[in-house]
Amino acid sequence: MNQTDVKQLLEQMTQDEKIAQLMQLAGFFYEGAAQRGEITGPMEDLGIEEETIINSGSVLGASGAGEVRSIQEAHLKKNRLGIPLLMMADIIHGYKTIFPVPLGISCSWNLDLAEKSAEAAAKEAAVSGVHVTFAPMTDLVRDPRWGRVMESTGEDPFLNSEFAKAFVRGFQGDNLKEDLHRVAACVKHFAAYGASEGGRDYNSVDMSERQLREMYLPAYKAALDEGCEMVMTAFNIVDGIPATGNKRLMRDILRDEWGFDGVMISDWGAVKELIPHGTASNEKEAGKLAIEAGVDIEMMTACYANNLKELMEEGQLEESLVDEAVLRILTLKDKLGLFEKPHRGADVKLEEELVFSKEHRQLSRDLAAKSCVLLKNEGVLPLGKEQKVLLVGPFASSGDVLGPWSWKGPRDEAVTMEEGMKRKIGANNVSVAAGCGIEEAVTEEQWKEIELAVKGADVIVAALGERSEMSGEGGSRADIMLPLAQVEFVRKLKRFNKPVAVVLFNGRPLDLHGVTDQADALLEAWYPGTEAGDAVADLLFGEVNPSGKLTMSFPYAVGQVPVYYNRFNTGRPQKAPHIRERYVSQYLDIPNEPLFPFGFGLSYTSFFYSNLSLSGNVVRSDESIRATVTVTNQGEYAGEETVQLYIKDEVGEVVRPLKELKGFKKVFLKSGESQEITFKINETMLRYTHSDLGYRSDAGSFTVFIGTDSENGKTAAFELELTK
Ligand code: BGC
Repeated sequence: MNQTDVKQLLEQMTQDEKIAQLMQLAGFFYEGAAQRGEITGPMEDLGIEEETIINSGSVLGASGAGEVRSIQEAHLKKNRLGIPLLMMADIIHGYKTIFPVPLGISCSWNLDLAEKSAEAAAKEAAVSGVHVTFAPMTDLVRDPRWGRVMESTGEDPFLNSEFAKAFVRGFQGDNLKEDLHRVAACVKHFAAYGASEGGRDYNSVDMSERQLREMYLPAYKAALDEGCEMVMTAFNIVDGIPATGNKRLMRDILRDEWGFDGVMISDWGAVKELIPHGTASNEKEAGKLAIEAGVDIEMMTACYANNLKELMEEGQLEESLVDEAVLRILTLKDKLGLFEKPHRGADVKLEEELVFSKEHRQLSRDLAAKSCVLLKNEGVLPLGKEQKVLLVGPFASSGDVLGPWSWKGPRDEAVTMEEGMKRKIGANNVSVAAGCGIEEAVTEEQWKEIELAVKGADVIVAALGERSEMSGEGGSRADIMLPLAQVEFVRKLKRFNKPVAVVLFNGRPLDLHGVTDQADALLEAWYPGTEAGDAVADLLFGEVNPSGKLTMSFPYAVGQVPVYYNRFNTGRPQKAPHIRERYVSQYLDIPNEPLFPFGFGLSYTSFFYSNLSLSGNVVRSDESIRATVTVTNQGEYAGEETVQLYIKDEVGEVVRPLKELKGFKKVFLKSGESQEITFKINETMLRYTHSDLGYRSDAGSFTVFIGTDSENGKTAAFELELTK
């Protein structure tokens, strides 16, 4: 087909058929029915007619080549114009081969592997019948109480944008029509879902448009610049108006200003949620608000299906809005080649071959090892292969290492810590005694077992963390410490006077008090995915040198939240010479700084930064400068370092963050080796959103900071001169 054919198809459609295209229902509306070659389902709930289902445009969460093919086949038999269904699903960090959760992936700072993971996920999903994934999630996050931070790539707009682009490239490739092993991407949740008040899921968001543009919007925009086909709305309000009914966001910014002409889908049930939000009094009003604001597909509720026709008949809704939305959906179907190949990549045989392929599992293992962040190490790690290990804790033998949003990933395929450790040093060298549960204190019986086992051990490895249900959607927590049972457990383990290395499996930065101080080594593993145990063992035994760096600050205590590196100075910063100590911006009981800052992560070696030099001290509109630093591996192990470039605008028209990440480079250095790392600095990197919402730079002084994390590095100064 081409665009003319698509338009002609639209002309042949009745009003009912058009409206039904805008509806998305879950796979269970079709399954079962499909086997019988007919389409029925639990329609009563939504109050829709069978006819609407027959004409509906897309399906949510159906997968498996056989199943999807039969749904599509049955659908095409009944659908008058033979318009195929779009199959959409949440392929967030893998389909069946699960990769680390996105927050973990981001800690690798490895865009290439991130892209490859999305490509592998797309391949497995596409041969299993999926056409569109509801990813990447590019919401900027600052509040670890929010359970969905695990789905994000952290607190920085620049890094989020880079990962957004990498994921979109990986999912989509460059030709969706020809490359049947890719899927269309859907960036979400537009917009600012990550800023929900108090970290409580679905909660209100209120921020200035300037802040929205500067911090929260860039990553969605980056995904679209990379060609992302779809956008999903957010559940929250933005400036008093629910995102799903927000014209300013979707029509003015997304469509008019950014020129996005792809498909916009509501989040699950979010159109109908305009009612409890209090901006619509019934489904008819909700439907009208959403379509006028720019939502093309309504996910899982029937405000459109049951009301748009009446609204048009009453002259309350312009038919052209419905036509536009349908045209966008048909265009996406065409881009995916569905009119020619309605089953697209769905292939039972390939599904068997490609899903869980060796290659995908290896990729998952590599990425998992690069995603873990070493937070503390007092001479314990790496472990020697001759050492006898006692493995304890609720994650010692648990398959709950895939993390939330891995609905297709079977836990019994996941490599547990026990398996990984035993594979590495032999079953005889690892004794396992779980001890406490996630929230259940260690019992006397369990403790006796540990006391017995510890005798023969040189080192204790405690695998601790949060059950995966403790983060993810609906997984907000007000207290983000490790459950007390585990904190107590670590304290008890210390009494053996043997080194304790803690490995953490969790979906958010935690308040690690009681753990950091007790543990001799601390490795943040997030949820590493299918190859968890092997990947962690690779790190613990030094076959891979840890290189992950945090992309979200770990708070010193939950009362500090939100705590993030790109904050402002305030008029009364600590150590301000002119103000008495009490009256500065600080807490009386804890430091202002996080426990572990953005960009932080240890290695088994150490990197020394020296000789930061600039090729000139003036950046001009059309003339960049180079900043060069020497990085030396001063330790005994070869290792990878992520060299980070931050810039501070010393004086702005609006206040500027203390630092802003503007670039990073990865360097692999052998023991004793040095390398010069160079970054280019140009005028476009110095632009920001002014109070009039204009995006431009100001002449004046800047500080460049290059370092190993957002707090430790070398600085130099330069000026920006603008040509009039
Ligand atoms: C989530 C989305 C997801 C959708 C479909 C919603 O509850 O917020 O991120 O894509 O469900 O599963």
